[in-house]
Amino acid sequence: MFNIPKGYPHFYFNNKTLYAEKVSLEKIAKKLGTPLYVYSLEAIRNSWSVYQEAINNSNSLICYGMKANSNIAILKEFSKLGSGFDIVSGGELLKLISIGATPEKIVFSGVGKQLWEMKLALENNIKCFNIESEEELYVLSDLAISMKKRAPISIRINPDIDAQTHPYISTALKESKFGISIDKAVSTYRIAKKLSGLNIIGIDCHIGSQLTHIEPYLDALNKLIPLIKKLTEEEISIKTLDLGGGLGICYQKEQIISPTTLLENINTCLNYNNLSHLQLILEPGRSLIGNAGILLTTVQYIKSNELENLVIVDAGMNDLLRPALYQAYHGLQPITPREGKFKKYSVAGPICESADFFSKKCELSPIYRDDIIAIESAGAYGMTMSSNYNSRFRASEVIVDKNKYYIVRQRETLKELLQGESVIP
Ligand code: LLP
Repeated sequence: MFNIPKGYPHFYFNNKTLYAEKVSLEKIAKKLGTPLYVYSLEAIRNSWSVYQEAINNSNSLICYGMKANSNIAILKEFSKLGSGFDIVSGGELLKLISIGATPEKIVFSGVGKQLWEMKLALENNIKCFNIESEEELYVLSDLAISMKKRAPISIRINPDIDAQTHPYISTALKESKFGISIDKAVSTYRIAKKLSGLNIIGIDCHIGSQLTHIEPYLDALNKLIPLIKKLTEEEISIKTLDLGGGLGICYQKEQIISPTTLLENINTCLNYNNLSHLQLILEPGRSLIGNAGILLTTVQYIKSNELENLVIVDAGMNDLLRPALYQAYHGLQPITPREGKFKKYSVAGPICESADFFSKKCELSPIYRDDIIAIESAGAYGMTMSSNYNSRFRASEVIVDKNKYYIVRQRETLKELLQGESVIP
């Protein structure tokens, strides 16, 4: 059975072969080649509507964390649905400008914003800069003054919370590089208040990614609330509360927190503290796109030794880095499973790195050369973290809409691989 979790019925078996919506994956993989990312438009729309139901007509703002997947077709879809965006670079902002996203719904996070990036964001009148250091306050204020503007800001607070996720995607522990320590929050806000290029609008926090427990969110909120009250006493008015992204998705058997549960818990907490006037901002990435996409890959070779049956596929860690970088689990599924006894297979990519594998000893139906395997839950942090390592062409991307499909990124060619490089004359 395909492991795509409930709520994502967009990938399913029909006549013993896997479909995305009404399109046979065997058909598009054969036609377009692999590695191929395939996204379901309906899945994207569904995950958006889950958030819409959760915010329940309030003035909360969902800013899609576009680092999860920044294909412009996907950005355009979120923009049409009314989403705001969380960006972390000038490049991301330029992509949004190119698709006509609403700047007033863009928040700018990141520890290392450069001058040109801040300038571009100020010129485009984005909603908010999430400031991550005291020095950044001065730099942004000076820049805004030189442009005769006032930059709207929140300060990203590091609440010192264990988000109970993989250490590389945990961002709110004391030792983390992100945000400003909660102990220094008030003094940093005081500085911001004095800087005439800045306009304080809110407070911000992002504690980590792939969170499967609600407690860390509530712990963070319970640390922010007294701070908001203290700031209000000092006549530093906080209008927005940005709690970042982080909701986990089901890759294997994880229990996930629904956006509705998260919102209900946050709102209860805010109401209890007479803070229901705050505009809530969330920056979900993975939970909007992760399970809306898969990566198709073709079996190249199979070899067995005493220890394992090794399947070498044509996708590698340059296409999907998560298993190599975080030992992340992604389910594997032959898209047209063969009859016969299941066997244990280890599935690896072609790259010259031992970390380049997708699964160790997973039970699959019999596999032969040229079979196509779907790597599940690859919609988030798949294509965006891909590279040209080993001088490989980056994969192609397709969006399926009912019985149609659209190629939204062409497979790279030799020309693109060589672009920008030259030999010494
Ligand atoms: N906001 C900020 C400030 C972030 O740093 C992130 C993710 C998000 C929002 C979106 O978080 P999400 O809802 O997607 O969890 N490459 C890793 C994940 C890195 C997350 C980085 N920040 C992975 O593949 O698991």
